Amino acid sequence: MSPTQTPQPAPPALRALLRRMPKAELHLHIEGSLEPELIFALAARNRVGLPYPSVQALRAAYAFTDLQSFLDLYYAGASVLLTEQDFFDMAWAYFERAAADNVVHAEIFFDPQTHTDRGVPMASVIVGLAHACRRAHAEFGISASLILCLLRHLSEDAAFATLEQALPFRHHFIGVGLDSSERGHPPEKFARVFARARELGLHVVAHAGEEGPAAYIETALDVLKVERIDHGVRCTESPALVQRLARDRVPLTVCPLSNVKLRVFPDLAAHNLPALLDAGLCVTINSDDPAYFGGYVAQNYLALFEAHPQLGVAQARQLALNSFEASFAPEAQKARWRRELDAVVERLAG
Ligand code: HPA
Ligand code: ZN
Repeated sequence: MSPTQTPQPAPPALRALLRRMPKAELHLHIEGSLEPELIFALAARNRVGLPYPSVQALRAAYAFTDLQSFLDLYYAGASVLLTEQDFFDMAWAYFERAAADNVVHAEIFFDPQTHTDRGVPMASVIVGLAHACRRAHAEFGISASLILCLLRHLSEDAAFATLEQALPFRHHFIGVGLDSSERGHPPEKFARVFARARELGLHVVAHAGEEGPAAYIETALDVLKVERIDHGVRCTESPALVQRLARDRVPLTVCPLSNVKLRVFPDLAAHNLPALLDAGLCVTINSDDPAYFGGYVAQNYLALFEAHPQLGVAQARQLALNSFEASFAPEAQKARWRRELDAVVERLAG
């Protein structure tokens, strides 16, 4: 690397702004917030065996080559979660970190099939997570809601059964998403399940264009009728799609550190988020699976801004505004966050 390419720390005032400005997090898998220390603590509490001798050995195994190599470890890590208390503890640990990053609103993914397929009751998963969401609001003022993600490597029948099983807890989640191995599992596979979710009045989102092609983003929009695209960074392979996303302000929940760890981009300097922002898309910054990818949401902002020195206060403010716009929160609440944001920008960078 030549000296001109060495990432420089962002100026201190910008770093403070990135950390302290209010922001929404819209792409966070709660199972991906399970830190190795908590995996070991829960394994001991539940007497679950782990194939790693220590926290350090587990962390050392976090060297991924692609999405699947990550998913294999992510599902193995989640195997220590058995009780309602475990789900509460995992989510509470996330909220403590989110509060430190001034996340004021979080829409959190959870993967029920990863747990129900091991015999964990749906109630333990959802009630434990929902309890942590309520307490995060009471203690930190974070408004938090849950989005039930369906695993796309499993069948349509399994997805239908999962959605039906979750219906007694319908009041605890606001939407349905689609995650796991993308290639070979196009959005169309879940057309009927998503139609059912929409009928139930649920919001709908889907991972698309992370490892899969731009065409998956189009079918997520056209067939699943999703309101946001999770990742979506491969949209740049189709200029017509980029234009459409900008025109319709379809939000993309982008996860910079994840994209580098899973080799979607070779490094942060090569990441296309600044170009997408310039093209007028409603892009947002999120952490995806922060325990596995090396940073929570503020760290994602900091690392991206460090790698792209042309990004400054105006872009920081726009990204926070986008996170509110892209959220499923009520309009009046979004207006309050925008005012809070402008007060912080004025104080720290005015
Ligand atoms: N992509 C797909 N599925 C996932 C991811 C991701 O980044 N994280 C957790 N499940
Ligand atoms: Zn994701």
